[in-house]
Amino acid sequence: MPTAAAARIQDVPTIESLSADQIATIKAIPPHVDDEVRAISDSRPRSFFLGEDQFALEQERVFRRLPVPMALSALLPNPGDVLAVDSYGPDVLLTRAKDGVVRAFLNACTHKGASLVETGEPGRAPRLVCPYHAWTFSLEGQLIGVPRQEGFAGLCREKRNLAELPCREIGGVIWVGLTRDSEPDFSDIEGQLMIDFEALRIPEMHAYGRRRFELKANWKLVLEPFLEPYHVKRLHANSVAPLFADVAGLSHRLGRNIRQISGKVQFSPDKVGGGENIHKSITHAYTAFPNLVVVTSPYYISMMILAPQAIDRTIVDYVMLTRGAPDNPKAEELFAKSYAMILDVFGNEDFKAAEKCHRGLVQGAMPDVIYCGLEEMIPLYYSILDAETGAA
Ligand code: FES
Ligand SMILES: [Fe+2]
Repeated sequence: MPTAAAARIQDVPTIESLSADQIATIKAIPPHVDDEVRAISDSRPRSFFLGEDQFALEQERVFRRLPVPMALSALLPNPGDVLAVDSYGPDVLLTRAKDGVVRAFLNACTHKGASLVETGEPGRAPRLVCPYHAWTFSLEGQLIGVPRQEGFAGLCREKRNLAELPCREIGGVIWVGLTRDSEPDFSDIEGQLMIDFEALRIPEMHAYGRRRFELKANWKLVLEPFLEPYHVKRLHANSVAPLFADVAGLSHRLGRNIRQISGKVQFSPDKVGGGENIHKSITHAYTAFPNLVVVTSPYYISMMILAPQAIDRTIVDYVMLTRGAPDNPKAEELFAKSYAMILDVFGNEDFKAAEKCHRGLVQGAMPDVIYCGLEEMIPLYYSILDAETGAA
């Protein structure tokens, strides 16, 4: 009989636990020797990364019009949990009320606008009390208490509820529309993307660690390495490269989202299954439009929200999800080592490369960025972005 502790580590994703679509894709991955690189001719001008107009278009037509990922369900697992997020411009307050529903509000008191909750770590609160004059709000956003209310002639509490934003919890991610009184289209997230995320068990996973990176690079340069395997054997030569093969794998559009499924170095089509940890031989990487990156590893999933701050500044909120909190020394050691390793690979390799590219683009080394067949998901992603910004 395995112990409960051993079972926790053995509770691993198998091919059988995946969605029908994920399984069919894995079964269609060619052997590495047959995975040939297509030659493509595609490029993006420097202005696509450095132009004020492009950045303004992305903000207006994408980040303020479509739902954006605000946080993970794992950060607010219980009723009474609250979290303030400041990475998008409007400061957003997320609450999970007694009814289990996550709601999003502007993190601003409706008396004089003071922030209700400090950004940072998730917290627990039965109600929200403004630190300034102690106006008090329920987690559903209603104004429920005003000290010395008799001093406000004609105050109508119902008109001073918190300013609510459109919000949905889908596939273990909390998606928010940043424009008040808008009706953003959540349907794209609710299709195959949600089915896949649920099969990966993202909604019920545990947030083992979270780290914020503040990068000096355009957000698209930060995103690019997660859309291509071309750099893996090179940039990561001294870290994770030996685990990966120099092949494209299979990629699909899921609406505006992109899913890449690729075989690791030991992958062979006739050797998947049999209850083995599928993420030892397969990597799933998703770009959930516009700015959520999901990458699977054998014992954890990396989730990254890339929030553009300016043309040349991006905040990345990284969370490592595990199947439960570590409850024994072996699991703790495995997770701790994995966490240190992945922060080092993303932080010191991928993100640093993005910052270096941004500096080189500013210096005008070349008129445009060109892409090869191993990078073909990047032009695809940009064509989806163009369709939203109206540049197509
Ligand atoms: S600003 Fe919040 S109670 Fe006055
Ligand atoms: Fe990378």
